[in-house]
Amino acid sequence: MSENPDPFVNRTEDTPAVTPGVLLNATWQCPSNIAIIKYWGKKNGQFPANPSLSMTLDQAYTQTKVSVVPGDKGNGLLSLNGDADHPFLPKMRHLLNCIREEVSALRGVSLEAHTANNFPHSTGIASSASGIGAFALCLVDLGYQLAGETPRRNDFMSAASRFARMGSGSACRSLYSGFTVWGATPWITGSSDEYAIPAPGLIHPEMMQIKDAILVISTKPKELPSSGGHQLMKGHPFLGGRILQADKNLEEALSALVENDFEKLGNIAENEALTLHALIMSAIPGTILLKPSTLEVIHLIRETRHAGIPVFFTLDAGANVHVLYPGHSAQMVEKFIGDALQPFCENGLVIYDHCGSGPMKVNGNQPPG
Ligand code: PMV
Repeated sequence: MSENPDPFVNRTEDTPAVTPGVLLNATWQCPSNIAIIKYWGKKNGQFPANPSLSMTLDQAYTQTKVSVVPGDKGNGLLSLNGDADHPFLPKMRHLLNCIREEVSALRGVSLEAHTANNFPHSTGIASSASGIGAFALCLVDLGYQLAGETPRRNDFMSAASRFARMGSGSACRSLYSGFTVWGATPWITGSSDEYAIPAPGLIHPEMMQIKDAILVISTKPKELPSSGGHQLMKGHPFLGGRILQADKNLEEALSALVENDFEKLGNIAENEALTLHALIMSAIPGTILLKPSTLEVIHLIRETRHAGIPVFFTLDAGANVHVLYPGHSAQMVEKFIGDALQPFCENGLVIYDHCGSGPMKVNGNQPPG
């Protein structure tokens, strides 16, 4: 992974970042996140069947610049990285349409976006959370700029989180540092299905040092896109039990974060990862996303843990493995990863990441506050 890459530095005079005559712009960097308690299944449209909890990452992020440009094609997003047929454009246009329904200032203006991920393309690492998060931040920022208003930070962030959720559910959790909860649950004040909130309680500082090494087992596109997976939870025979389990796991995970109980958190993370795949396998039709190397790695992690090293895993809806370990054990665990786990990765690719500090506005500006 390149250090502090600036996706706009490679442009030349021949390929300007935006059409000359830009009127306004906003640039935001937004990280990805990894769910500890998984969101799997929707209710009433783009609302989660169960509350989820994620850790915001740091090194896997998207940087996006959106510009208001002169022109009469004010009804859509004109291009992404200069490409009017970019495959991510439909998702971004959907989000733009959702925002335009509510934010009149964004109607009738022409927009161009330039975006770049700092993690390698085609690594099997989902970029939609960071990509949609960054785009939502830029649009909300531009909406306020066009309306000539200065929002309060909390209002700004919950608006961005709510719009990000409309674009891609899990993206709404990328808007805060550390740990984030999305989904209404009666015992968390302020929790909402509409947008994510920072995890409640005084999270122990050591928990904010948790590391996540992403083992890229396969770079092949997923056989089951998450939208299809969420659909298959409708009428799933285990749905009722899953909702109860997620709520209980959430309560325990939040107490582990406050009590600095890494073992408790790690056990919940593994239980959630295996449940996610069990739900995927037992849906109709069932899908097996785990590869032989995924299972080899999981067994090695568990053996190593039983030998006394604090290391756990979680999985997304794919074959790649997220290795979780405390910051203070990094040297020991990273040696184990290099010696024993890296050989299972496609082209030896491991992305070392950690609990991060959330999105930021680029060009020295801070989020409004
Ligand atoms: O946000 P979506 O629709 O891509 O769904 C994400 C689902 C999981 O990544 C499997 C779990 C999660 O909570 O992030």
